[in-house]
Amino acid sequence: MSDIGDTTAPVLVVIPTYNERDTVGDVIERLTAALPHAHVLVVDDGSPDGTGELADDLAAADERVHVLHRTEKTGLGAAYIAGFRWGLARDYATIVEMDADGSHAPEDLPRILAALANADLVLGSRYVPGGRVVNWPKRRQLLSRGGNLYSRIALGVSIKDITAGFRAYRASVLEKLPLDDIASHGYCFQIDLAWRTVRSGFTVTEVPITFTERELGESKMSGDIVREAVLQVGRWGLRRRGEQLASLLRRKH
Ligand code: GDD
Ligand code: MN
Repeated sequence: MSDIGDTTAPVLVVIPTYNERDTVGDVIERLTAALPHAHVLVVDDGSPDGTGELADDLAAADERVHVLHRTEKTGLGAAYIAGFRWGLARDYATIVEMDADGSHAPEDLPRILAALANADLVLGSRYVPGGRVVNWPKRRQLLSRGGNLYSRIALGVSIKDITAGFRAYRASVLEKLPLDDIASHGYCFQIDLAWRTVRSGFTVTEVPITFTERELGESKMSGDIVREAVLQVGRWGLRRRGEQLASLLRRKH
């Protein structure tokens, strides 16, 4: 796969949107300037603010831009899985996840893609040396740090920013993961996929990024999303301990 990490290989950047009319145009403009060969897929869940229609206009003006319209808001996980399927069906070698609100700088993408030459999944990470977060309120910082610590302990992985939403997958990883079985709705989808990637024997690298809190629009983070993540990660962690115990007992007999 000599073309991976080559910045001219076919890349699809999937951008999920729900009410991101104020920011998605600017993000796509910066993205196509930073990475002229990349294609973009906006996955809009019927945003009431007209994001889907705006994305259609952008797609009509630029053949690199595509839009997938979904009728219901069923969470970040379902939107990404629909986007991944769209990309896999069209043979992109690399599939990228990126937020629509400007928190992820498209200008960081060449560096993230270059790191894919030596890894199967590259995370744009806030919590490795050189990474940082700008303008997040204290409680959001605590939630993110706490979520990462909890995941590291429960799942036994060394990834520093496992909830990262700015990441690049080799298509071969997504082809191997059972996309039909992934039921995570909210942001624990990010933990779920990174954890499945590690368990499938793929390599994960973290590249430092600066995450800048949005200035326009609103975060979709909610109590339900946090509850789902706490329960799911706890469940995966318990299952992992159970498997460890079972294999220990097998070895003793
Ligand atoms: N289609 C669709 N459907 N898009 C969604 C949905 C949904 O149900 N929920 C969120 N999004 C989109 C938003 O429109 C935005 O483009 C992106 O997903 C991220 O949503 P935000 O609401 O801005 O996330 P955040 O800034 O609070 O959270 C960030 O940090 C999380 C924790 O580290 C993101 O980077 C997350 O990906 C990350 O997990
Ligand atoms: Mn955001």
